[in-house]
Amino acid sequence: MKLIIFIIIGYILGALPNGVWIGKYFKGIDIREHGSKNSGATNAYRVLGPRYGLMVLLADALKGFLPPFIASKFGVTGDSLLLIGVVAIVGHTLSFFLNFKGGKGVATSLGVFLFLIPQVTLTLLIIFIVVVAITKYISLGSIIAAIMLPILTYFYPTQNGLDKLPLLVMTSLIGLFVVYKHKSNIERLMKGTENKFRLK
Ligand code: G3P
Repeated sequence: MKLIIFIIIGYILGALPNGVWIGKYFKGIDIREHGSKNSGATNAYRVLGPRYGLMVLLADALKGFLPPFIASKFGVTGDSLLLIGVVAIVGHTLSFFLNFKGGKGVATSLGVFLFLIPQVTLTLLIIFIVVVAITKYISLGSIIAAIMLPILTYFYPTQNGLDKLPLLVMTSLIGLFVVYKHKSNIERLMKGTENKFRLK
């Protein structure tokens, strides 16, 4: 019963469309109508500016971090925490607040895996920053981090009492899903028309 309650909490928190709500509330702008049309932090940064982009990044990461974190405080352990985290990511990408549409899952995955497998996630964060610093493409940093997620998971020791096999299966599925959600970015990267990140 406890697990079901936290799965529901995970989905609801994950589904909160921070990018859309912050844009509408503070600037009267629906970021889904501008830039890449994505509801995530990168597009919030692009359309609303650095302050709101950072706000969306923190809020989206937090809604991934909190469900497994809170569940762990209530005695939920191991693979159940993984399930709750994955549900939060699914909530973000298939949000009932947005007619079951949503973002690409990067910031929310960051929050989930920062709690579940911090060593892997901090390494991915460094890889992401290096790729973006060199190429100026946030999407490429996200895609490479998503591909590296199951690979690093394989080589690093597990944490938080998680079992390796379910963790490998879930990180592979999430990694593939995040890459799939970047299909329009991949097309633009191949055509050379992808937006470059510019510090504002
Ligand atoms: O996390 C999403 C990012 O990788 C790409 O965002 O807005 O450029 O499609 P965007």
